[in-house]
Amino acid sequence: MFIPRLSRVAFWLAQELSRGKCPSQAISGYVQRPFSQFMQCQVGHRMENNMFHASIMQKNCLYSTTFSNDASGEEAEQKQKISVTFVDKDEEEKHIKVPIGMSMLEAAHENDIELEGACEGSLACSTCHVIVMNMEYYNKLEDPSDEENDMLDLAFGLTETSRLGCQVIAKPELEGIRLAIPVATRNFAVDGYVPKPH
Ligand code: FES
Repeated sequence: MFIPRLSRVAFWLAQELSRGKCPSQAISGYVQRPFSQFMQCQVGHRMENNMFHASIMQKNCLYSTTFSNDASGEEAEQKQKISVTFVDKDEEEKHIKVPIGMSMLEAAHENDIELEGACEGSLACSTCHVIVMNMEYYNKLEDPSDEENDMLDLAFGLTETSRLGCQVIAKPELEGIRLAIPVATRNFAVDGYVPKPH
């Protein structure tokens, strides 16, 4: 590691001197800096004056830039939240912020909104039934799975924009979505309903 670095420095110095730079000026960039700055100085200079080194260092630079951009992008996405409004059976509205990736059932529970969710999101009930209040938003949702449709068929007060709250996952396109909580839910586990086997 050390020997190749020394030879690169020697090569760089030879180039500098051949361009007519004063030796002390050429050396000072390396010798008078702390090690980390020394590396930065080397990077910048090579990118400017030497194609071979520029390509290596550019690759490193790109790598580090990409790496940090990805990290900050992921971080930003994790922190990103959308605004969601729940409207309860008394037509009272509750405005909450929901992190991207969280289900509306989880979001409701975190914000003390009365949305039952008896099976805790395992698609074995319809007590997390919500009604998407705007068709435009309904169309932005993923299509319901067969299992979700089966459970929705059992939901009280089914509408054409009904979904199960545990299956509606926050994503940027849903910013501003409004969800009505039906006046009643049907929990067949409690009500004694046993779904027919397929
Ligand atoms: Fe049971 Fe959503 S909580 S299906």
